[in-house]
Amino acid sequence: MDGNGRWAKKRLLPREAGHVKGVNVVKDVINLTKKYNIDSLTLFAFSTENWARPKNEVLSLLNLFDRSIDDEKDKIESNNIKIRFIGDLASLPTDLQKKIIYIEKKCKKNNGMQLNIAISYGGRSEIVRAVNKFIKNAKAKQSISEELLSKKLDTYGLPEIDLLIRTGGEKRLSNFMLWQLAYSELFFTDALWPDFNESIFINALYFFQTRKRRFGSLMDI
Ligand code: IPE
Ligand code: MG
Repeated sequence: MDGNGRWAKKRLLPREAGHVKGVNVVKDVINLTKKYNIDSLTLFAFSTENWARPKNEVLSLLNLFDRSIDDEKDKIESNNIKIRFIGDLASLPTDLQKKIIYIEKKCKKNNGMQLNIAISYGGRSEIVRAVNKFIKNAKAKQSISEELLSKKLDTYGLPEIDLLIRTGGEKRLSNFMLWQLAYSELFFTDALWPDFNESIFINALYFFQTRKRRFGSLMDI
């Protein structure tokens, strides 16, 4: 979800106003995901690299996450959404960690759409944390495999990623899901995140629908 700051700057507003508008778009996109029968949605909200932003922006983002959980927790539960937070959650303020654990628990019995929020997330950090988890319980000289590593990732048990959408014009992954995106389709749009809407969403779905997915073999599926 890239482009909040530029959206705000164009309107001579503080960057935070872009992030606030971005949260509204998140709510729209969750509804669109449901409307188009997509089982699983992951939102990249804050990266391990975003900690390097000015302190006031980091604080205002953390506050926004905190407030959004408070405001949306009941709706998420009643809409039958399963929610999981991924990333280096131990680096978050304790209050926010508690709220994350609370909302995940609250929605545990749900069996509808899967919503994942990546906060303090980095693909490299996730892989390193996964390897360290493996080493902790590994038998002597046991080596790691793709299957064993996958089981230690934050995304364990979630479906493979079919489609990545990046807004804001940049064509890079910025350390997102480096392991999981191996065979995903990648859709880039110049639209800034606060301007993302249903018609761009449909364009992304249409792009996905028209891909021939061979996963390295010669067979289309
Ligand atoms: C993405 O928008 C939102 C977060 C990183 C939380 P940016 O804040 O990166 O917006 P631009 O790229 O400066 O426009
Ligand atoms: Mg950006």
